[in-house]
Amino acid sequence: MTTVMNGISSDSQPASPSPDSKALTQWPGVISHYARYLPISEFTPIITLNEGNTPLIRADNFVEACGGEFELWLKYEGLNPTCSFKDRGMTLAVSKARERKAEIVICASTGNTSASAAAYAAKAKMKCIVLLPHGNIASGKLAQALMYGATTISINGNFDDALRIVRELGETGQVEVVNSVNPFRIEGQKTAAFEICDQLGRAPDFHFLPVGNAGNITAYWQGYKEYYSVRKADRLPRLFGFQAAGAAPIVEGHPIEKPETVASAIRIGNPASWQGANAALNESKGHIDKVSDSEILAAYKLIAKTEGIFVEPASAAPLAGLIRIAKAGMIPRGSVVTAIMTGHGLKDPDNAIKSAGFEPIIVAPIKEAVMKVIGL
Ligand code: F0G
Repeated sequence: MTTVMNGISSDSQPASPSPDSKALTQWPGVISHYARYLPISEFTPIITLNEGNTPLIRADNFVEACGGEFELWLKYEGLNPTCSFKDRGMTLAVSKARERKAEIVICASTGNTSASAAAYAAKAKMKCIVLLPHGNIASGKLAQALMYGATTISINGNFDDALRIVRELGETGQVEVVNSVNPFRIEGQKTAAFEICDQLGRAPDFHFLPVGNAGNITAYWQGYKEYYSVRKADRLPRLFGFQAAGAAPIVEGHPIEKPETVASAIRIGNPASWQGANAALNESKGHIDKVSDSEILAAYKLIAKTEGIFVEPASAAPLAGLIRIAKAGMIPRGSVVTAIMTGHGLKDPDNAIKSAGFEPIIVAPIKEAVMKVIGL
């Protein structure tokens, strides 16, 4: 008998694995792969979209462009199922919510958390409510929440207002909050540090990342420390975090009432994991600084043009910081540096088209017209 799968017909005999299939074994997602480091049991239903196992891409062209003499590796978290790093924490938060028989998950978001929560809730057959700052969500992220079927509420206020309301709703016990105030989010996100060590065969010397609500910097530090303690990593990196200049509460040392930046993902004035960020920075002998919107946009364009890697503006913040620090000669020659590309560029097509600096050239539908434009 012949069956047809994915348009390819095959005999019903089990196929013997082809030599090519070896390298293409199915990745099970971060919970199954890193189960022994995560707070799960045999009773935890695993809600996964096979997140994680994102590429770590060497970026020599970018290093050359900023005049450095170090190894830069970009962890391309934009290649997760909902195109941001949030999926690592969300798989665990939603799995644990399901284990506790919760029916509704809720979050506040600048866009990526809501996209991820909505997708994993859909997979878990749970209801999802997302609260977004009205008018400040990149269009791709809004499209995701709507398409995954979340009840999408736009708050006439900013992310900090939305998170305050979500926390209040969480106290009623009727909804499960899946922002990074939920410890399972941090636990899941720490797997990115494990992956970096596993991919590099060591921990980096410096680790650069954007900082918004500060869950990710907290999670990475936890991950690196855990891997070091079980001798899966040979050292601890120094963590270098970057906030946008108009939304830099940790750098300024006080909450920012009206945060503003082109990098809408990190437009946050009062981070929930502020203490976690301080601990990570102090313990790792790290550094936190702010970068201007024009520095962010310059790095955003440079990484796309030099490396073919398209990220959203927030992910370019650590690259802007790296450019500045490399130019000041502060990265010792030969260092191994990682930077986290937290979200995909297609999340925010409006900023991309605005920033590109040129538009498509419209011509008549004839060969000669095209040749004229390209100078042939
Ligand atoms: N990069 C991107 C693309 C983000 O979406 C976020 C946070 C960050 C960096 C900062 O990470 O908050 O852990 O310090 N986005 C949240 C959201 C706030 O709602 O999607 P953080």
